[in-house]
Amino acid sequence: MRPRVADVTAGLGRDSFVLASLGCEVQLIERVPVIQLLLADGLARAAQDPELTPIIERMELIREDSIAWLRRQAGALQRPEVVYVDPMFPHSDKSALAKKEMRLFRDLVGDDGDAELLLAAALEAAQNRVVVKRPRKAPLIPGPAPSFQLEGKSGRFDIYALKKLER
Ligand SMILES: C[S@@+](CC[C@H](N)C(=O)[O-])C[C@H]1O[C@@H](n2cnc3c(N)ncnc32)[C@H](O)[C@@H]1O
Repeated sequence: MRPRVADVTAGLGRDSFVLASLGCEVQLIERVPVIQLLLADGLARAAQDPELTPIIERMELIREDSIAWLRRQAGALQRPEVVYVDPMFPHSDKSALAKKEMRLFRDLVGDDGDAELLLAAALEAAQNRVVVKRPRKAPLIPGPAPSFQLEGKSGRFDIYALKKLER
């Protein structure tokens, strides 16, 4: 059994799709209406492909601000085991800005200046861990220090381990 994941910064659902492909049940929470529409359209189209149907069936889109959603989960029975957080990062990295898709996305979404509140709500709601995706050189989201970090070529995961995952 894979963990139940809440992707509280769903965006276009790429990371969620990877997690669902690995067998996780994923709740995708997105607050920007135009991104919600794009994501819903992508999920509906993907669901028509028989190879993808079982993956898409593990993905549930929730159209809401994740801070409010997470605050409600904190007292609920079915809290997410893992909360995944990938907010926009306000940097001026030319290589990222040069990408047309990224520029358009940033214009629609803004800079997610409330990432600190989002992390705090995630830490209250998650049962087992919170995973934050950041550019490799980016500072931590203000708050408690992560338990450990995994670094890749351009990105980094800050992992806040709360309770052992029983699998
Ligand atoms: C960098 S993108 C995430 C990309 C995503 N990981 C993917 O693989 O496509 C950040 C997204 O999180 C959303 N977001 C940020 N803060 C949020 C919040 N508090 N509630 C809901 N959505 C939020 C933004 O609107 C944006 O679409």
